[in-house]
Amino acid sequence: MDKKLQIDLQKVPQHVAVIMDGNGRWAKGKGMGRIFGHKNALTAVRETIQSANEIGVKAITLYAFSTENWNRPKLEVNALINLLLTSLKKELPNFQENGVQVKAIGNTNSFPKKFQKVLSEVINATQNNSKITLTFALSYGSREEIVNTIKNISKKVVNNELKIEEIDEKVINNHLYTFNLPEVDLMIRTSGERRVSNFLLWQMAYAELYFTNVLWPDFRKSDFFDAIIEYQNRERRFGKTSEQIETSNE
Ligand code: FPP
Repeated sequence: MDKKLQIDLQKVPQHVAVIMDGNGRWAKGKGMGRIFGHKNALTAVRETIQSANEIGVKAITLYAFSTENWNRPKLEVNALINLLLTSLKKELPNFQENGVQVKAIGNTNSFPKKFQKVLSEVINATQNNSKITLTFALSYGSREEIVNTIKNISKKVVNNELKIEEIDEKVINNHLYTFNLPEVDLMIRTSGERRVSNFLLWQMAYAELYFTNVLWPDFRKSDFFDAIIEYQNRERRFGKTSEQIETSNE
């Protein structure tokens, strides 16, 4: 049976976060270098965005480059940046055609100017698209984001723009890089690793975590739909009892 038909379109996660892992191992398995793996990751990226869009996911966030990734060999870092740059340029018509609004979170100003320019061009060109928001986490680390949030809130307190008593979860949400995105409902990580690796820690407080052994370059539409089906089969209780959930669904 077509996997898509098993999906309840009324219960689709609003925001899906993805840790695209396993490019290096995929390449190694083929007797190739790590960069070969990254280059072969693009079909998976495209299929993930397409399938999310097809079923009505409103936001998808891809962990494309972590703050820790700067510690990789320079050759690999440069290859990743170039790959991101050429892919962003190449995919722009596709984004426009499919109503994809591109955003970025993280320390994007640590990237080369040339990259920053292309990124802001794509962000500006797609800003009025509204079918799905595609956020690239670039030089992103969740703890760094939280530190940055605390600094910005503290500045407002010092400047008397905000009172300490006014600080609540909403204020914190509004100061995170993800301030205009819905909470993460589902996090997918490929390659069999079962960690969240400093990705959207605050935003994933109630997310369902889905781990698959598929290596990222092999990840396809049907793998994405498997994750959605599994998500829909889980009971999200947000601290309540099963009985309370059942009553509220009646
Ligand atoms: C993890 O595989 C992947 C990355 C560090 C980078 C993610 C980048 C891409 C998927 C390429 C381009 C992306 C876009 C959005 C155009 P790994 O190298 O850690 O694999 P390993 O764990 O097997 O070594």
